[in-house]
Amino acid sequence: MTDKAFNVIVAGATGAVGTQMITCLEEQDFPVDKLKFLASSRSAGKSLTFKGKAIEVEELTHDSFAGFDIALFSAGGGTSKTFAPSAAEAGCIVVDNSSAWRMDADIPLVVPEVNPEAVADYKKKGIIANPNCSTIQMVVALEPIYREFGIERLVISTYQAVSGTGVAAVEELRTQTVDLLEGKPARAGVYPHQIAFNCLPHIDVFLDNGYSREEMKMVNETRKIFGDETIRITATTVRVPVFNSHSESVNIQTKSKATAEQIRELLSKAPGIEVMDDPSNNVYPLPVHAAGKDTTYVGRIREDESIENGINMWIVSDNIRKGAATNTVQIAQLLANNYL
Ligand code: A2P
Repeated sequence: MTDKAFNVIVAGATGAVGTQMITCLEEQDFPVDKLKFLASSRSAGKSLTFKGKAIEVEELTHDSFAGFDIALFSAGGGTSKTFAPSAAEAGCIVVDNSSAWRMDADIPLVVPEVNPEAVADYKKKGIIANPNCSTIQMVVALEPIYREFGIERLVISTYQAVSGTGVAAVEELRTQTVDLLEGKPARAGVYPHQIAFNCLPHIDVFLDNGYSREEMKMVNETRKIFGDETIRITATTVRVPVFNSHSESVNIQTKSKATAEQIRELLSKAPGIEVMDDPSNNVYPLPVHAAGKDTTYVGRIREDESIENGINMWIVSDNIRKGAATNTVQIAQLLANNYL
């Protein structure tokens, strides 16, 4: 642990992830000296609190970063592309929650339970990327399996909460639910279709190969985090009318044979994971159970009887916490403890 304290910026401080980042800095007792909150000009002058003290939100500009050590960004990909290089140039290291820098070969993509050593590469561009929420919880659960048995192939289906889209989407689910229950029509704005009482097999934009960008993030980011381009991965990502926590059904083909009992035992000892797997007593992970926690919950662990070396499991975690803010602050902790 370091005795030093750091000057920290939260960029996108008024957003769904930004406000959670502030809470995580408090909860993880991050060694903060000066703290600055940035957002768009719309929010300048608003006030947010940190450890009971009010701090005024300022407008994010290219000159926001002088004298600061670490900037946690969650203000969208375009904002990160525009402003993260200015921060890095001013000597303020960026931990970025957007997708803007994740696949840049000179920028590390870090999940502390999986590849903490990659943080060292922050020196190349002064930026560290936080992976996509659905990727983070999956690789936390896969890491012990990858090390012990090897992974040949993954078949993924996700059930993703609206909070991942931002505060406007949370409001849209709330409004549509109330309107529909009152017999009024649902008005779609954030999503292309009604999200209340519905499922949308559409997250982010569609690409030429027929997959959505969210699906390809799971493929490419997982390979980058494990440093293994040979893992075969296919994903279907679905937005569901859940406020918080993503759920994932993951079919894993391991390189060597693993029994369900071996996987259960391995995961029960792994950091950041809790195994909830007693289906006969209705015990399995649920989004409402994971919400507000930093843990990745795994259950429904069973052998896939249709293939050699197949395992099925169900993974649930709070997408705003471990899927975004918690992981970002954990990366900042690694940086502060080991490199600054
Ligand atoms: P603001 O609240 O002023 O719009 P969410 O993902 O929940 O929608 O939040 C997005 C966050 O990113 C908010 O804090 C938002 O600020 C911030 N943001 C969006 N666009 C910009 C921008 N161009 N410059 C700075 N901050 C931005």
